[in-house]
Amino acid sequence: MTDWKKSDWRNKPRVQMPEYTDAAALTAVEGKLSSYPPLVFAGEARRLRDELAAVSKGEAFLLQGGDCAESFGAFQADPIRDTFKVMLQMAMVLTYGAKVPVVKVGRMAGQFAKPRSAPTETIDGVELPSYRGDIINDLDFTPEARIPNPEKMLQAYTQAAGTLNLLRAFSTGGYADVHQVHGWTLGFTGAPEAEKYRAMAEQISDALDFMNAAGLTTETNHELQTVDFYTSHEALLLEYEEALTRIDSTSGKWLAGSGHMLWIGDRTRQPDGAHVEFCSGVQNPIGLKCGPTMTSGHLKALMAKLNPENEAGRLTLIARFGAGSVGEHLPRLVKAVEEEGANVTWVCDPMHGNTIKSSTGYKTRPFDSVLREVKEFFAVHNAEGTIPGGVHFEMTGTDVTECTGGVRAVTDEDLSDRYHTACDPRLNASQSLELAFLVSEELSARRTKVLAAQSA
Ligand code: PEP
Ligand code: CO
Repeated sequence: MTDWKKSDWRNKPRVQMPEYTDAAALTAVEGKLSSYPPLVFAGEARRLRDELAAVSKGEAFLLQGGDCAESFGAFQADPIRDTFKVMLQMAMVLTYGAKVPVVKVGRMAGQFAKPRSAPTETIDGVELPSYRGDIINDLDFTPEARIPNPEKMLQAYTQAAGTLNLLRAFSTGGYADVHQVHGWTLGFTGAPEAEKYRAMAEQISDALDFMNAAGLTTETNHELQTVDFYTSHEALLLEYEEALTRIDSTSGKWLAGSGHMLWIGDRTRQPDGAHVEFCSGVQNPIGLKCGPTMTSGHLKALMAKLNPENEAGRLTLIARFGAGSVGEHLPRLVKAVEEEGANVTWVCDPMHGNTIKSSTGYKTRPFDSVLREVKEFFAVHNAEGTIPGGVHFEMTGTDVTECTGGVRAVTDEDLSDRYHTACDPRLNASQSLELAFLVSEELSARRTKVLAAQSA
């Protein structure tokens, strides 16, 4: 074990973090959080690491999804249940195509802090500090609302604990039992992807009936009755992360107790910066966003720093280049990984490289671009002989109109109908399911090719 300390990040250059003006209030909050129970446990993080190791070998597939930013105002049971439900449906569709287990990780129970492209925002000639997520300041466009307030960390902790409690109950309390596969259908009757899902659910029910008839009792099978559902968020607000970081008595290693998996954003991945320093010392699986400006040199330095022991499942590289740009950037990074003989898990985030301003002024993402980036990601891995391990989406189970397109085509004009995101535009339930079917087809085609190559 190294002599890494959870406060070491304080000696490194930091970006995208608030300057708290009330030092005494900040210290008081950090003291409270440090005494509160952690939200997740080391055994869970280690199990996720093992599952991600399987993903890196093509023996499982990762589905990571949820809000761009969780908000205090939208904290209710129904949206949590609906996002969980859509993820179960998507996972079912993906398992069906890939014929491997799907590892489910929510952008939930801690996804409160946001990096921003500009430090200030100007509306009608008035310039104010940018909104940085509900854990830091408020979305309202007033000078008071935009002052960073450390007390908000306590509310974020409480909301994360409440969210996680509900997710744990849904995962193990019968709701996620595969025999409920029909019940997870949401109220979007008539949509083509809902019909497709229903047909698939029918086949799954038939298979379960067959197994029961053959004497393999499925009703009491734990594996079919419960799911493992993990949480993740961007480790951006390091005061919060540090306060929830504890020594795990079993391994003697540090664990960030705020969520199972933490990721480093594309704006905070400086190899010598505070965020990389913090993430290097905790044993949680770490995600690293890889955008167009990442060079092979950066990636090699980051892999050395974040995964010095080259453990499988420790490091997930989340590619987010934008449709039309994957072929230009991903191959050099895949090559860097191969040159180092590094164990990584490759995942595609087709959201953050595809944000545009719509003709009606809303920040949006065309569904076609999202889809195209996923296809390009698969194509590069198929060509390089590497493993496309998973997908990372901003999505919600709620019927919002934030991304354009999809089979129930949302137009630029529709965006104003139900545009509720606190930050980036999310796929709605119907778009999410449609995307899952498309990814499932990619996975199934890939599997057919691999099996053909094996038998040739
Ligand atoms: C995000 O995941 O919400 C995000 C800000 O991503 P990135 O760091 O890739 O821009
Ligand atoms: Co986002």
